[in-house]
Amino acid sequence: MDNRSIGVFDSGLGGLTAVKEIMRRFPNENIVYFGDTSRVPYGTRSKETILKYTHSDIRFLLSCDVKMIVIACGTASSAALPEIKTEFDVPIYGVVDSGAYEAARVTKNNRIGIIGTPATIKSGAYNKYIAGYNPDAETFEKACPLFVPLVENGHFNTPVTKLVIDEYLADIKKAGVDTLIMGCTHYPLLKEAIAEYMGDDVTLVSPGEEVAKFLEKKLNSENSHSEEKDKDQYRYYVSDCIESFEELGGIFLETKINGKVNRIDIEKY
Ligand code: DGL
Repeated sequence: MDNRSIGVFDSGLGGLTAVKEIMRRFPNENIVYFGDTSRVPYGTRSKETILKYTHSDIRFLLSCDVKMIVIACGTASSAALPEIKTEFDVPIYGVVDSGAYEAARVTKNNRIGIIGTPATIKSGAYNKYIAGYNPDAETFEKACPLFVPLVENGHFNTPVTKLVIDEYLADIKKAGVDTLIMGCTHYPLLKEAIAEYMGDDVTLVSPGEEVAKFLEKKLNSENSHSEEKDKDQYRYYVSDCIESFEELGGIFLETKINGKVNRIDIEKY
């Protein structure tokens, strides 16, 4: 038993896709979430900058006495995690391995689409894991940099979102994939629109949700489940404006988070 919180971070709203699933699966776990909203987006930045941001995000979460850290960000998981994994004393898990595992498992025609930020696609991380789990799978990738600002501005399923989806996903659709990894944790907030475009025959994989399944195994095998909810079971921190995070985060989580979000100065970490 370990009642300390699970620390989760992303550049903004995207990591809430992991948080929602962690909440659903483990009602007793305490969660500290950090959305680095003053520095979003991560996915168009250099590896050095992503590494620097990831370090400070982890240092902040460690200051909250967490038992483990989930990098609920495809970009930081693929560009930074391999290098920083052993630098800290707590276990750190990313979303790429779990997302790739699920896609390799569910595909029937071995044609898998991968969409993500430019940094994630450039890293080739999803490809690497998929090749390990299913060497017969062929992958079709596309960087979709406009999706993150659409999400951060609440365009979950609007005409402009549909237009951008057509622009980015046309080739992947043509390639006949039966599985699509939404390789940036922001993208599941566009799931309805992406599913409409790709059609019923395509399975959409959300790595944020998949990492929660993986945590189940970890918490069980290490017997580190929480048995006691804190008074503030879910704490949210951002590095910029609270209001839009409260509003959009609340819509996505389907619960009001007003008054539970605090602003920190991430430059101090
Ligand atoms: N949600 C993140 C990801 O999974 C970050 C997107 C961004 O900040 O560009 O890649």
